[in-house]
Amino acid sequence: MNTRLEPLLTAKVRGHKIAMLTAYDYPSARLLDEAGVDALLVGDSLGMVVLGYPDTTLVTMEEMLHHTRAAARGVQRAALIADLPIHTYDTPEQALANARLLMNAGADAVKLEGGVSHAPQIAAITGAGIPLVAHIGMLPQSVREEGGYKIKGKTPEAVQLLLDDARAVEAAGACAVVMELVKPDAAHAITAALRIPTIGIGSGPDCDGQVLVLHDLVGLFPWFTPKFAKPLATAGAEIRNAAAAYVAQVHGQ
Ligand code: KIV
Repeated sequence: MNTRLEPLLTAKVRGHKIAMLTAYDYPSARLLDEAGVDALLVGDSLGMVVLGYPDTTLVTMEEMLHHTRAAARGVQRAALIADLPIHTYDTPEQALANARLLMNAGADAVKLEGGVSHAPQIAAITGAGIPLVAHIGMLPQSVREEGGYKIKGKTPEAVQLLLDDARAVEAAGACAVVMELVKPDAAHAITAALRIPTIGIGSGPDCDGQVLVLHDLVGLFPWFTPKFAKPLATAGAEIRNAAAAYVAQVHGQ
């Protein structure tokens, strides 16, 4: 078993809550690794908070490989998971080929969005021995079709569909599943129904772990913060203040 991934895989049986954050480059990966974060995600959210795109649907495989390589150079201990961007896993063959590229770039596991609909892609990747984290609930790569970032699991029928997705990704060999914007009661029920760990984002406290976009945690993208994120630092304001002080210093010389 991959030693960096092992703590994540055994977390549920040990009753250890998984703390996961996004990291997109060498310094953020190294700082978070040193801070004791269990798992780092080179998320395609980098399209929004690093590259300035309006959503994640413009992120390319080349961009994910570039950032995965950079983050991998900063990691010693934490598990490094890399996102497959949109339309890089439309078929099982394409999914496996691109998962291999991310693993060669330094990832310990890959992540893709989808449940029942993507079980064949997940099975192709895990069948080749590549660890895979699934992603169900609100799927950011589908934001345009969905018309926004909408909460999932509001009716019994919707909860059943989420449970079907969760069971399908587990059966296809996923080692963990991210649940995004799932109603807390539904997230609780799904967590209880699975053997693999659930990692929530905006899905309440009862998942087996939590993930946040680093920029939302440290206030590094101050122009927009999701409702569920409670920033613990004001890095954006700090940078702006330091830059303004530097400008004043240079202009005053
Ligand atoms: O891309 C990303 O950062 C993600 C998290 C929001 C889970 O998928």
